[in-house]
Amino acid sequence: MATTKKLTSAVLRERKGKGEKIAAVTAYDVAFARLADRAGVDVVLVGDSLGMVVQGLPNTLPVTLDEMIYHCRMVARGAQHAQVVADMPFLSYQVSIEDGVRAAGRLLKEGAAEAVKLEGGEEMTELVARLVSIGIPVMGHVGMTPQSVHKFGGFKVQGRTDEQAQSIIAGARALANAGAYALVVENVPPSLAAAITQAIPIPTIGIGAGPSCDGQVLVMHDLLGLDPDWSPRFARRYAELGKATIAAFSAYVDDVRSGDFPSDKESAR
Ligand code: KIV
Repeated sequence: MATTKKLTSAVLRERKGKGEKIAAVTAYDVAFARLADRAGVDVVLVGDSLGMVVQGLPNTLPVTLDEMIYHCRMVARGAQHAQVVADMPFLSYQVSIEDGVRAAGRLLKEGAAEAVKLEGGEEMTELVARLVSIGIPVMGHVGMTPQSVHKFGGFKVQGRTDEQAQSIIAGARALANAGAYALVVENVPPSLAAAITQAIPIPTIGIGAGPSCDGQVLVMHDLLGLDPDWSPRFARRYAELGKATIAAFSAYVDDVRSGDFPSDKESAR
């Protein structure tokens, strides 16, 4: 059962090595944030994946800071217990430290986020240290970082070569040293995720990275089967809400057309 006490970055950070895995899921509005929170999810991530699963775009690059703030505000209203983490969208933090501080600050101030997540390794450490120094908890994100989709030539597994793997481990260490409290590790071989988890003192939260991470995160659409026809190979479908929703909509259509809905009880008195 979920309790009403808010989870903080310090509490999540302390879970490392204690055997209590972190369960994270994305959400983009108050309804699903409430449901995830009631289910006992630890972290609700307002992912820039909203560009793909909510807006229907081919990647996350066009998502704006204002859009992230809008969705974050809704999610924050539904999360009584879970920590609300907001993704920093592409180009809101890569140009300058000042841009990054302002963007992260807006996500907390206007979006009511409790931490921000940003993609990248060693090149992000100056920004991470600055954000942490002014009181903004930062979750890192390494491996297959979706904002670099064009560099990778698609959403492909990263860290297969020794050189890539060493660079990802070095990035993970640098982020932890800079003060990040947790690290998403996406779409890397399980052996590399295990090596990263061993190498750093903060929790790793895996997605498509095998079972050795200190926690897991899934996009809610994949977990709930909201797309009836597709989900990534690494996701587990815990429900078939896409199929159930089509069935409910088509039963409604039938009832409207046949005159079965509304009944007397469903009409004003
Ligand atoms: O944007 C997102 O939803 C994410 C998760 C896939 C980790 O970054």
